[in-house]
Amino acid sequence: MSSWGNLLRISIFGESHGLGIGVVIDGLPAGRRIDFEAVSVQMTRRAPGQGSAVTPRREPDVPKVLSGLKDNVTTGAPLCCVIENTNVRSGDYSDISNTPRPSHADYAARERFGEACDMRGGGHFSGRLTAPLTFAGTVCRQILADYGVHIGGHLYSVGGVADTPFDPVNLSPALLDSLSLRNFAVINPSAETAMREHIEAARQSGDSAGGIIEAAAVNVKPGLGSPMFLGVENALASLLFGIPGVKGVEFGTGFGICGMRGSAANDAFIVDENNHITTATNHSGGIQGGISNGMPIIVRVAFKPTPSIALPQNTVSLDTQQETTVQIRGRHDPCIAVRAVPVVEAALAMGLLELYLRG
Ligand SMILES: Cc1cc2nc3c(=O)[nH]c(=O)nc-3n(C[C@H](O)[C@H](O)[C@H](O)COP(=O)(O)O)c2cc1C
Repeated sequence: MSSWGNLLRISIFGESHGLGIGVVIDGLPAGRRIDFEAVSVQMTRRAPGQGSAVTPRREPDVPKVLSGLKDNVTTGAPLCCVIENTNVRSGDYSDISNTPRPSHADYAARERFGEACDMRGGGHFSGRLTAPLTFAGTVCRQILADYGVHIGGHLYSVGGVADTPFDPVNLSPALLDSLSLRNFAVINPSAETAMREHIEAARQSGDSAGGIIEAAAVNVKPGLGSPMFLGVENALASLLFGIPGVKGVEFGTGFGICGMRGSAANDAFIVDENNHITTATNHSGGIQGGISNGMPIIVRVAFKPTPSIALPQNTVSLDTQQETTVQIRGRHDPCIAVRAVPVVEAALAMGLLELYLRG
């Protein structure tokens, strides 16, 4: 379903080529001022039409709040936000209703919902649905800032080009804050050039590229989360896998820890200069036993190459059951990961706020 959360409940609605999309956020604490300029920065980072690395579909993505705010302050009632779809070209999708796009949700959705399913522009499975998700996460991020939490992310790698990874121990809030303002979020500027070249080469040949986003939260209080099924990893992973195109999530050193010996992988406890218990390394990504330990929470999220590519692809005609090819028209992101950085940050903020509200 498209609802998530317990004390903080987020319900996302809409389809890519319907009248609009939006979100209802229930459970927000009352009396918190929402800074709409900061919201607009995040909506713009996610929005299409920012150059050749992203889809040229241009939409302003202006969130219109119908309820839950008075004078930009949360009232405690459900906050409902709608975003109009203004740049719809359903004709681009007329061919594919009978010939599902390989690795998009077209075929699986039809098996699940039958012909009633509105798959124009990817329907409810479109990356466009990450606009309300970004709105919700940005509201949550602002409330988390009151607890001192900073969140940011960057393109960790695109097509084998790697950015400078986060220092998992000494990760500065200022670095996360500056990354979370950037449209093409990288730490090392030369990585941006090489990544853009890789994406452009894919686009020029009618193809697409995948990428990995690394995101983090710092100043997260120790003791958040519960063992087994209500842990920090569970909460964050369930949100992150809700983002279309995500195929993997790893925390801390992730899969890389499996090749290490325990003596190198274990995060030794130390006492820092402020007399706080901390750890010398952070292979655990700030989470042990499902519970935050006060170290930076570090997560990497794997995005597949955009399924809609311009090259002809093999598929099957649903009418005739015959093999055929599909040539996808329309405006598509050559690399989903570029625009997904603020979405991943938003998912982190939603998950952490739910955990803070649980106490
Ligand atoms: C920000 C964002 C933008 C996306 N843009 C596109 C796109 O332009 N074309 C496309 O085919 N898929 C795009 N996707 C991915 C599809 O929505 C996704 O691959 C599809 O729904 C199938 O889901 P799955 O990949 O999780 O299995 C985008 C995803 C995100 C997060």
